[in-house]
Amino acid sequence: MWGIFTRTMVKAGKSKSCGLAKPCHLVKPVSTIRITGRYLTHQRGLPTLPVPPLKQTCERYIAALEPIVEEDELKHTKELLSDFQAPGGVGERLQRALEKRAQHTDNWLSEWWVQVAYLQYRMPVVVHSNPGLILPRMNFRDKQGQLRFASKLIAAVLDFKIMTDNEALPVEYLGGKPLCMNQFYEVLSSCRVPGLTSDSVVNHAKSSRPPKHITVVHNHQFFMLDVYHGDGTALTADQLHTQLERICSASPQRNTEPVGVLTSQQRDSWARAYLNLIKDQTNKDSVSAIQRSIFLLCLDGAVPPVADGMYRSLAAVQMLHGGGCQWNSGNRWFDKTLQFIVGEDGTCGANYEHAPAEGPPIVTLIDHIVEYTRKDDAPRSSRVSLSKPQKLHFRITPEIQKDIEEAKNKLDILAQDVDMKVTIFDHFGKNVPKAHNLSPDAFIQVMLQLAYHRVYRRCCSTYESASLRMFRLGRTDTIRSASSASAAFVKTFDDPRKQNTEKVDLMVKAIKAHRSYTNMAISGQAIDRHLLGLKMVAVEEKMTLPEVFTDTAYAKALHFQLSTSQVPSKTDCVMCFGPVVSNGYGVCYNPMDDHINFAVSSFNSCEETNASRLSQAIEGALLDMKTLLEQTPRSKL
Ligand code: COA
Repeated sequence: MWGIFTRTMVKAGKSKSCGLAKPCHLVKPVSTIRITGRYLTHQRGLPTLPVPPLKQTCERYIAALEPIVEEDELKHTKELLSDFQAPGGVGERLQRALEKRAQHTDNWLSEWWVQVAYLQYRMPVVVHSNPGLILPRMNFRDKQGQLRFASKLIAAVLDFKIMTDNEALPVEYLGGKPLCMNQFYEVLSSCRVPGLTSDSVVNHAKSSRPPKHITVVHNHQFFMLDVYHGDGTALTADQLHTQLERICSASPQRNTEPVGVLTSQQRDSWARAYLNLIKDQTNKDSVSAIQRSIFLLCLDGAVPPVADGMYRSLAAVQMLHGGGCQWNSGNRWFDKTLQFIVGEDGTCGANYEHAPAEGPPIVTLIDHIVEYTRKDDAPRSSRVSLSKPQKLHFRITPEIQKDIEEAKNKLDILAQDVDMKVTIFDHFGKNVPKAHNLSPDAFIQVMLQLAYHRVYRRCCSTYESASLRMFRLGRTDTIRSASSASAAFVKTFDDPRKQNTEKVDLMVKAIKAHRSYTNMAISGQAIDRHLLGLKMVAVEEKMTLPEVFTDTAYAKALHFQLSTSQVPSKTDCVMCFGPVVSNGYGVCYNPMDDHINFAVSSFNSCEETNASRLSQAIEGALLDMKTLLEQTPRSKL
């Protein structure tokens, strides 16, 4: 079904937890989004996110803890939960308040989630929050090719923007159910703004004068490029090409004071530096032009040479953090929601700020770009005079210079710390599990449990993102992939005393248990966001935090040593992100029909972890699970 959308309108509002420097009038309270105008059938027709029953969540929480905590910890948590959910207990009170909130908001969770998961998170957005996205390598290797491709990329995004401007995006579906499309309207023309204790996101598409320009960054210098003519038509690819050439000619040398690197700072440090930076009117205007732009295009310089087998891993770090200040990290504004990156050696991709959207809408846009840029060049348009792209100037005081130096040092340390391995597993893809009537995603998740267990001889708390977009303004919940069923399977798989028939049965049980958790999560019945909601009620009502939230088991459950996500794409991209804990892994994968792209990350500073070692274990586990499936008859489960 193709739907027609009326754009969601946002009321300006104040945040309760407004920090000192936070531009409160810009904070977007998600739950007050109004649907106006030609009432869109689609958004309004979506159900609201339910609040799961308290007893159900408590039971499922205990089940989820079983494979990852010690027996005495589990016993203690069971006792806490029994008091928590007792009639008249604190759990009931929190549950009632949450149900009340659900009645009065479009989505009881989304605003809290954006605040807690993103805007109040104080670690740098680089590596710790912004994902990178690697496109298949393009077939150019020089500056001309780079600019030709970049101009087509701009044209492709503007072509996509027509659909958002006309509110005519095709509705997406999951499991036959229509999804909330709001995130598509949040990613163009928006930007994160640093604040002390909490940031905000401003979406300029919703202003009375929506932006008509993009920001181009070349040699660490920023330019404002108008991409529409006076009559509202978009510049053609060859007109954009001319403009990009002018930008490159105007910035032949690398800027030694890359202001953009400030956006890679720890958020409170950046918020302080930001206030200082925008004291100067020229700086303020330049920052505003970047924030207001439709998106940012990074025309990257050279990348370090690597052996062919390492190319994709190198491309991944260019997208994730820019490779360090010696390479392209100064060629970014990490707060910008969408940064498209085009390197002169054909390395292309994107980096995006996560607060407004999950990966799938971004990948839909990327797929559109890849398909658009594959089309033949349009005939050359007639010569028209184009206004000169405007260089964005910054006046750098000694204090700002000091902030830039500090940011450069810290970013280089962070970039050095990232261990990234991208693998194209080309022995099979979704086709094999499907042929065995198994969910490919559940197959991959159970395989990840096996791979991790083979390396560490234990199970760990594992996060998989589950889409809540079946609900209005839905974001994500957690699929807890470490289950009792997966633990039973991984402990048995390499045991030579066990029969293959037993192993295959345990494998199928684990895969089915995972799929069943997925179904529960996408229908709003998982435990993580519900527990968060109960905790948030306690925080907002200034109650003493119930012990279930200060318990060791709760901390262990949230220490995701495996943080994973499926981000499918039609065009063979792969997304990548950093680990969410210092001794963990980030694993993102794109399962195609006959191969699977994996991006595995860890931190070099952690001796326990190693991205290549886990990637090898992943390949081995995939092959071994396939062999077991093919060689062993299955009992009727
Ligand atoms: N037998 C045969 N085929 C099966 C099957 C079975 N038992 N179970 C599923 N399949 C098929 C499906 O029909 C589907 O077919 P398609 O390729 O033609 O579309 C395919 O296998 C994939 O299904 P599955 O692997 O089960 O995964 P899914 O597409 O349902 O996705 C999630 C599962 C969890 C990834 C998805 O529900 C989700 O939430 N995605 C969003 C994740 C997200 O937001 N990530 C970004 C975070 S930044």
